[in-house]
Amino acid sequence: MFSVKNETFLKEKEELLIIGLYDRPIKFEGELAELDDALNGQLTELVKEGDISAKKKETALIPTLGRVPVKRLLFIGLGKDKKADFQEMKEAIGAAAKTIKKVRLSSIAVALDSFVCERIEADDAAHAFSEAFGLASYEFKGYKQQSNDPEQAVEQVTVYTKAEAGVVSAALHVGYVFSQGTNSARTLVNTPGNLLTASDMADYARKLAETYNFEVEILEKEDIEKLGMGAFLAVNQGSVEPPKMITLKYHGQEEWKDVLGLVGKGITFDTGGYSIKPKTGIVGMKTDMGGAAAVFGAMEIIGELKPQQNVVAVIPATDNMISGEAFKPDDVITSMSGKTIEVLNTDAEGRLVLADAMTYAKHHKADYLVDVATLTGGVVVALGDDKTGALTNNEEFFEEVLEASNEAGEFIWRLPLTEKDKQRIRSSKIADLNNSPGREGHAIMGGGFVGEFAEDTPWVHLDIAGTADSSKASALGPAGATGVMARTLALLALRRPDNQEK
Ligand code: BES
Ligand code: ZN
Ligand code: ZN
Repeated sequence: MFSVKNETFLKEKEELLIIGLYDRPIKFEGELAELDDALNGQLTELVKEGDISAKKKETALIPTLGRVPVKRLLFIGLGKDKKADFQEMKEAIGAAAKTIKKVRLSSIAVALDSFVCERIEADDAAHAFSEAFGLASYEFKGYKQQSNDPEQAVEQVTVYTKAEAGVVSAALHVGYVFSQGTNSARTLVNTPGNLLTASDMADYARKLAETYNFEVEILEKEDIEKLGMGAFLAVNQGSVEPPKMITLKYHGQEEWKDVLGLVGKGITFDTGGYSIKPKTGIVGMKTDMGGAAAVFGAMEIIGELKPQQNVVAVIPATDNMISGEAFKPDDVITSMSGKTIEVLNTDAEGRLVLADAMTYAKHHKADYLVDVATLTGGVVVALGDDKTGALTNNEEFFEEVLEASNEAGEFIWRLPLTEKDKQRIRSSKIADLNNSPGREGHAIMGGGFVGEFAEDTPWVHLDIAGTADSSKASALGPAGATGVMARTLALLALRRPDNQEK
């Protein structure tokens, strides 16, 4: 996909050259000044007239009409260089990727050094470019019969730079891998429940394991019964699709120690069960495996980039259905941990499947746990659809997750979890826990319930009910699944070995 050239782009017959434009007094210097000269100062003129803008995220496509070998120039406004920011640069590049899609070219080129400034080095610019380009180019093919619209994906990107080619290549690779892991998560979430069952998720895990040499274990219903995962089984009880407890292990060190556990809610469709969802709330519930998708996406990135960090991923996969055999409100169930649970609401199923998955991750010696889940409508009410809600039992570990999320550009916001909150979760008269202590603070109740199964293990909960999919397109992707948290989780694993040495 990417090739790096330590040459000038001036003599190359590229179809399209992407140029970053900072808002600063001198717009064109060095090679860009030469390009402007070759075009008789027309670029300077177009800037003056406002046809080419340095304003953030503005793009301008300029044909060169045969005056230079490059056929078209695509300018991307980057705003003030003194305020340059990695995440905003990605968004600007994403906007440009959409223009490129319209032009339908198989090969493009980038003047990478035009993106470099005091705050952004060449490797950061390269990473920003490949990640944003990969994310913004994503499309979910869907299931329509073939259209006559010819498609043309970019296959080749030539990156011109004076910076060291090896460093730039490596950064391009990392950014691209991040985008692809995220896009895989998006596709899983966009796939409807009839085409992505728990068994399909298990097959997906097997393939991932084969590609990246992960250890894989799929627990079948009988195994799940033997292990006493009563909470997970209860949710599956009304389904004709067998449940799968999926485990992937990545060995980043010789010894199985300092293990990071990633636990993702894998509800392939959530009807709500007997506490059935209203007809407006049920549509879209194919996305209820967004946590599992984020974990798979992160594992793909981890498999590609191979950090020195042990990782165990655990995904409880099932749908939440209704039948004569389904679990009911008032049922009392026993989780693998031994903790008993009074079911007050069968629609609060995520916390039940996660309960056993958390215990199972600990069984596989996870020393740190992050659970990711489309867990509550409450988090959307509290934080909107662009912020992931977080809870924790460990300040230091939360700080690590927060830093990873900042680096990924995925916003998370922590909610409190007080002793009083925990008392409400433990307030059942007849069981240890109750799965639905009421509407008040219910994002906290949901996450806090999962935390009961982390016990003393450092734990962070990420509720992505608002962020896993989006009704609007963004600079970095179309409407639909966002693949949120795949990059944050991967970065957490990639950053950990360094953090531990400190
Ligand atoms: N899967 C839903 C949460 C959800 C809501 C995800 C909207 C995405 C968009 C979850 O299983 C659920 O139904 N939660 C209930 C919990 C309640 C019954 C305690 C909710 O949030 O209403
Ligand atoms: Zn539910
Ligand atoms: Zn759910």
